[in-house]
Amino acid sequence: MKEPDRIHQNIFFSVIDGLILVSPSLSILHSNLAIEDMFHKSRDAIANRPLEELFPRQPQIIDKVRKVLVTGACYHDVEAKGARKTAAIQFPVNLTLSPYLESDDTIQGVIILIKNMSLIRELEEQQRPADHLTNLGALAMGLAHEIRNPLGGIRGSAQLLRQDIRKTAHHEYLDVVITEVDRINQLVKRMMDLARPVEIKLKDTNIHKVLEDILILEKETFARKNGRFQQIYDPSLPLIEADEDQLKQVFLNLIKNAIEASPKGGILQIVTRVSSGFAVKTPIASVPRNNIAVEIIDSGEGMDEETQKKLFTPFHTTKSKGSGLGLPISLKIVEDHHGKIKITSEKGLGTTVQVFLPIRQR
Ligand SMILES: Nc1ncnc2c1ncn2[C@@H]1O[C@H](COP(=O)(O)OP(=O)(O)O)[C@@H](O)[C@H]1O
Ligand SMILES: [Mg+2]
Repeated sequence: MKEPDRIHQNIFFSVIDGLILVSPSLSILHSNLAIEDMFHKSRDAIANRPLEELFPRQPQIIDKVRKVLVTGACYHDVEAKGARKTAAIQFPVNLTLSPYLESDDTIQGVIILIKNMSLIRELEEQQRPADHLTNLGALAMGLAHEIRNPLGGIRGSAQLLRQDIRKTAHHEYLDVVITEVDRINQLVKRMMDLARPVEIKLKDTNIHKVLEDILILEKETFARKNGRFQQIYDPSLPLIEADEDQLKQVFLNLIKNAIEASPKGGILQIVTRVSSGFAVKTPIASVPRNNIAVEIIDSGEGMDEETQKKLFTPFHTTKSKGSGLGLPISLKIVEDHHGKIKITSEKGLGTTVQVFLPIRQR
């Protein structure tokens, strides 16, 4: 191989990306300064070493270099791992392979342009939205713990004070402290439930029983507002595979919302049916399958479009004592069951919440 002339040599050394010239026997003939930086090796240490040493255990790279030598083809955008002192320290690189042609057009080697992708990959990692959520979740959990610990102390002290204080008027103040502490505690606990991945315990579940358990609890409250429930159940509805306790939480949230949206009472319909028009694909089963649908139809206040857009945003509430966590938690539970929630509403007319749940999880 002829010695490259001065200008070419300067170009070779000045390029900020790594450049190497590989011989037909796959050893490194020349390398530029960027290579020293990138691989933490001096040019002398690299000279005449096999290409393998820079890209260990990557037969696909060696393969491509061979193809360039034989066919003269070029390769762009080839992902690889560069190795520093030992094969254990690796960093991501992006390669461009071109044939090195002599003046008579014969292929005398392969030129590899090497871009260090470490920084770019790091930035890409940081911008992954899922990671952000995980971090936010972890932060929320940490914060929740920190909030709950002193709350326990405040509550305990307030209780002790209450026992020692004679003036009943002052008891009331302390009662406020205690109930408000309980409220914060409850809020933080629900926030933690949202952030913590909870395990679902599946068993055959009768959704009508789940619904009835809740309706019994809420019947009184609703009757006081002149409201009543109307159950329209499909008697042939199959059992579903679900976590009963978690579903109770979902329907309690939804029915509470419906009641809260109906200050004038009215009829609240709870409809169950088999849903054939909608299929869920899950990571476990890619075949579409049947769902049941539970519909909660209220004739309450309904909501405007702005509220509808933010329904599942944690902490978004239009109520003075609301938490804004009912719907996000419900959605999470339903999605854990590979189901879906659909909400339609018209201001002044009422709201329909549809919950779809697959009959079988497997
Ligand atoms: N059935 C409903 N009718 C009218 N508005 C509703 C209904 N369900 C939910 N919403 C609206 O969605 C908001 C968020 O609900 P949710 O997440 O359960 O939190 P919260 O009930 O604590 O406000 C409520 O504040 C309310 O504005
Ligand atoms: Mg609610």
